[in-house]
Amino acid sequence: MNLPTEDARGMARALTELLDTGRHALVASGSPLAARVADHVGCPLAEIPNVAEHLPSWDHANLQCGVDAYLARHSPDAAWFGIAGSRHFTPVVDMLTTADTNGQYRLGAVDYTTVATGPATAAEAVQLGLVCTAAPDGSPVVLAVQGAEEARGEDRCHLQVLAAERSTGAAVREEILTLAREHDVFRGQVLAFGASEHRGNRLLTFLPRPSMRADQVVLADGVLASIEHHVVRSAERTAALREHGQHLKRGLLLYGPPGTGKTHTVRYLLSRLPACTVFVLSGVAMIRWLRATAALARRLEPSVVVVEDVDLIAHDRSMTMSGNPALFELLDEMDGIGSEADVTFVLTTNRVDTMEEALAQRPGRVDLAVEIPKPDAACRERLLRLYGGPALRLPDASPLVAATDGVTASFVREWVRRAVLKSVTSGSGLDEPALRAALDELMSQQQALTRSMLGGRR
Ligand SMILES: Nc1ncnc2c1ncn2[C@@H]1O[C@H](COP(=O)(O)OP(=O)(O)OP(=O)(O)O)[C@@H](O)[C@H]1O
Ligand SMILES: [Mg+2]
Repeated sequence: MNLPTEDARGMARALTELLDTGRHALVASGSPLAARVADHVGCPLAEIPNVAEHLPSWDHANLQCGVDAYLARHSPDAAWFGIAGSRHFTPVVDMLTTADTNGQYRLGAVDYTTVATGPATAAEAVQLGLVCTAAPDGSPVVLAVQGAEEARGEDRCHLQVLAAERSTGAAVREEILTLAREHDVFRGQVLAFGASEHRGNRLLTFLPRPSMRADQVVLADGVLASIEHHVVRSAERTAALREHGQHLKRGLLLYGPPGTGKTHTVRYLLSRLPACTVFVLSGVAMIRWLRATAALARRLEPSVVVVEDVDLIAHDRSMTMSGNPALFELLDEMDGIGSEADVTFVLTTNRVDTMEEALAQRPGRVDLAVEIPKPDAACRERLLRLYGGPALRLPDASPLVAATDGVTASFVREWVRRAVLKSVTSGSGLDEPALRAALDELMSQQQALTRSMLGGRR
């Protein structure tokens, strides 16, 4: 047997020490923060390739979901750590690389924030933190997550993957992003863009999904059914259309006077599409979110994009980013979404005339236009009975129905509400005299308003 000699043992020890010092010299760092990262990755910070993903601020919840799912899969016991001493928004990599030279950035606690995950739910997300984990191939990586800091002018959230090899970092990033899409918190939700309290900042908020029955929407016979047939489509029909190479994208325009039930109908449709992701856009400001909405609608298909009061942007002559008037921009976005995407646009307007020219110049975006007119006599009676409910004592509605020719559905609702108030105050029932009194009052108020608007009264 060849036992190692004292000399050989000494040499081996010396070699190990040398290697250790070398390795140490390679990754060692004066700052425990920088050392924690460099030691795990096994390479000096300056040599770590930059693999990052920058996402809009509203995607923070999804980024966190993706990272959480990744950690659960590859290192369920991993513990986050943080950076103390950050006063302004600084990318994590910059904080790490300067941690050695300036003592400002130190190993610290993880900074958390709250992100919405539904209309009434929220989750904790890492605002600034790092975690040591492993790549799919087992090599060591450190993940850094940084939320947006809108007050400091940073409107994106960030994922940084610190690995010795770029390809390793990229593989980790891809897996996290795939997991984020799989766990997307926006899927199947009703969402609206708006500005946060900080001027100009982007915010995607969750709205509760309306819950309505068909009998709550009073339209002429067959109208609601045809709208519903156009928009609400079973998954089987979608699959069949795809199979036969037919386009999926749809465009519905609801037009009619104010208060006739366009928004009401949209709300009903949304309650009939529980699995669809919905985006609600309104007002002139909505043009700013158009592009982001179209991208999200595609990502989260099947989806519905509701553009309320689209005539508002038809009047807006200001040019958009692509140099188009706003309405053309909308119509172009509708087209750009691609016919194979399962995205439905629902537009509402009470000024269809102002849109005719634009719609004619950009044909094919709207494949069903439905007028929602003022209610006819039969609809007025249905509205009266709907809003009066079981308390209504009105064997013959025809005199009141005849007296309300030309009013809108929302007028009927308000009329019944006043009659209910009167009947409660007087102790009488919700009967014809109560309705008659409320109607007289409402009509005379409305006439006074009309007169004063027309300048007929001082
Ligand atoms: N067809 C209808 N059936 C039942 N209720 C209706 C109907 N139309 C309107 N209403 C009632 O009136 C309210 C206002 O109507 P809605 O907001 O849908 O009007 P609109 O057509 O969207 O008007 P605008 O053009 O001003 O946006 C509804 O919330 C609903 O309570
Ligand atoms: Mg409306």
